[in-house]
Amino acid sequence: MTGHLQVVVCGAGPATDVLQLTQIAGTRGWTVAITATPNAQDFIDSAAVEAATGSPVRSSYRPSSGARRTLPPADALVIAPATYNSINKIALGLADNYAMTSIAELIGRKVPTVIVPFVNAALAARAPFLRAVAALRDEGIHILLGPQDGWEPHPPGSGSERQKAFPWAAAFGTAVELVQGAGSTMSGRP
Ligand SMILES: Cc1cc2nc3c(=O)[nH]c(=O)nc-3n(C[C@H](O)[C@H](O)[C@H](O)COP(=O)(O)O)c2cc1C
Repeated sequence: MTGHLQVVVCGAGPATDVLQLTQIAGTRGWTVAITATPNAQDFIDSAAVEAATGSPVRSSYRPSSGARRTLPPADALVIAPATYNSINKIALGLADNYAMTSIAELIGRKVPTVIVPFVNAALAARAPFLRAVAALRDEGIHILLGPQDGWEPHPPGSGSERQKAFPWAAAFGTAVELVQGAGSTMSGRP
């Protein structure tokens, strides 16, 4: 199956490699649009992303010329890399920038959603983070995290090493599985 993938990138090292996800999705016939949190913009080569996806990286409410103001339809949402900060905010329903607002609305529309954290073990052990992960899972969001997913928080200070192993293919594969499991009525389409 093919579809349109909305990706939200947060401010962590693997954001630099988001083109791996566009490439994986593209070879499967999916179109991709990238939204970045304000902090993620420093990590992304926006020109390269635009060349790969055919649309500019979206980070603010003001669209670039010609772009639509409303959210585009999405068959699936992948939030990757997802920071400690953004995961906690998403769980609380905060919408303090364009990326967070998009996520809040797409989840509300029941768009199949995969979150791939890139968080060190010290942050991942914090009670707010544990509560956030549990709350999001309760809401039906798939979080790639834990031994069952082969993706665990890394020791503090080892992020650069772990970045190379970021599970882009698993993120896309999980999104496709969720879409297939959701059936043919895609509520992400208005
Ligand atoms: C070079 C650099 C690397 C960072 N790596 C991470 C990271 O791996 N995980 C994380 O949760 N935060 C990381 N941060 C901190 C986040 O960027 C920071 O919490 C920021 O507020 C996140 O904003 P966002 O969630 O809106 O993208 C990093 C910051 C910098 C400057």
